[in-house]
Amino acid sequence: MALLWGGVDCQELAEKFGTPLYVYDTGIIRARCRELRETFLSRWENTRVRYACKAFHTRAMSKLIADEGLGLDVVSMGELYTALSADFPPERIEMNGNAKSHEEISYAIRSNVGRIIVDHPDELPVIARYAKERGRAQKIMIRVAPGVDAHTHAYISTGQTGSKFGFPLDVAEGSMLRQAITYAMQSEHIDLRGLHFHVGSQLFDTDDYTKSLAKIIELMRDLKHIMNFTTHELNVGGGFGAVINPSKPHMPSALYTDAMMTLLHKKCKEYGLEIPRVIIEPGRWIVSEACITLYRVENIKELPGVTYIAVNGGMSDNPRYALYQAEYEAAAVKDPGAAPYDRDGGTHVSIVGKCCESGDILIENAKIMRLEPGDIIGLYNSGAYTFSMSGNYNCLARPAVVFVENGQARVVVERQSLEDLVRGQVI
Ligand code: LLP
Repeated sequence: MALLWGGVDCQELAEKFGTPLYVYDTGIIRARCRELRETFLSRWENTRVRYACKAFHTRAMSKLIADEGLGLDVVSMGELYTALSADFPPERIEMNGNAKSHEEISYAIRSNVGRIIVDHPDELPVIARYAKERGRAQKIMIRVAPGVDAHTHAYISTGQTGSKFGFPLDVAEGSMLRQAITYAMQSEHIDLRGLHFHVGSQLFDTDDYTKSLAKIIELMRDLKHIMNFTTHELNVGGGFGAVINPSKPHMPSALYTDAMMTLLHKKCKEYGLEIPRVIIEPGRWIVSEACITLYRVENIKELPGVTYIAVNGGMSDNPRYALYQAEYEAAAVKDPGAAPYDRDGGTHVSIVGKCCESGDILIENAKIMRLEPGDIIGLYNSGAYTFSMSGNYNCLARPAVVFVENGQARVVVERQSLEDLVRGQVI
């Protein structure tokens, strides 16, 4: 039984478009967007979704998100430019980032982005200046770090005390947060709408969210009492977990959103606060499970105690094992259901890449059938932070991206050529 992705045979995709190849089933992405509309936007009033495009961003993806009626979270001029080049409505874009340049702020304001999420006090006068030049007030939010250590890899936990992101939760006279809010409230070219926080990424339960949210609602209460500042909008970030095993059901987004919304409604009532507009920023959850990455097996090295299956890509197109020891599952596209190969009872199988590093691993302990050179394998649930984090290490060309829609495949990002690799270089 061949492996189909979005109704298309993966062997044929590999032959037609080459490998490595990122293959996205847009039906899955659309289903995720629909789930957010049905279980969050329709169920809870005055809510918004901004897809965190750092997870996977291309012009075609921007178009898809626009068609699905969601917004975007961008963090750089490049992400913003990509979205605008696909005619993404700017008012549905928010700009995050802990180190925005003046140029990025100016570009965001000129482009009429909906919100700028301020991460440092120095951004405020810059925003005010560029907004004044445009003769308007820019809507902003202030990012705070809730001081909660999320249960995830340390590199993708962002809301802890001492994080490089956001303002510390300190409302003492003269604190960074108090000063920033005062500045924003006094500036006629800044319209401070509320607060933003993001706990971390790849979270599988709601504890970290509710703990963080509880602290933020207390902050909202304190800011109301101390400064008469009303939080009209609250962005609770992204981070919803994506499963690794393709036969497991995905995490329902309502698990996270219902827990947060219920707490928010309860606490706001208790503290006599207006219920703010709530914005979520999921990235990984929307795209991870929609993609299978196809590789060709180059060779197999059977050593005592370990079998290396070396493929024609690796950390250059997916650095996630190297960075976070991220787990994946893979199958041979010619027989995805075949029993895993067991050389002599428990020999370790590693699927490795072709980059010149021992850490260039895709799967450390793979359960996969016996393979031959030339076979195509698919790495499941590999749609988040892979293409977007890919590079040209060892001068490997970046793979193509294919969207599979209604049984048809189309290239949405071309494979880089050798000429692309040297473009812009002079001798
Ligand atoms: N909002 C903000 C402010 C963020 O910093 C992030 C992710 C998100 C939303 C989206 O988080 P998600 O829903 O995708 O978990 N490269 C790492 C993940 C880094 C996440 C950075 N921020 C990885 O491959 O696991």
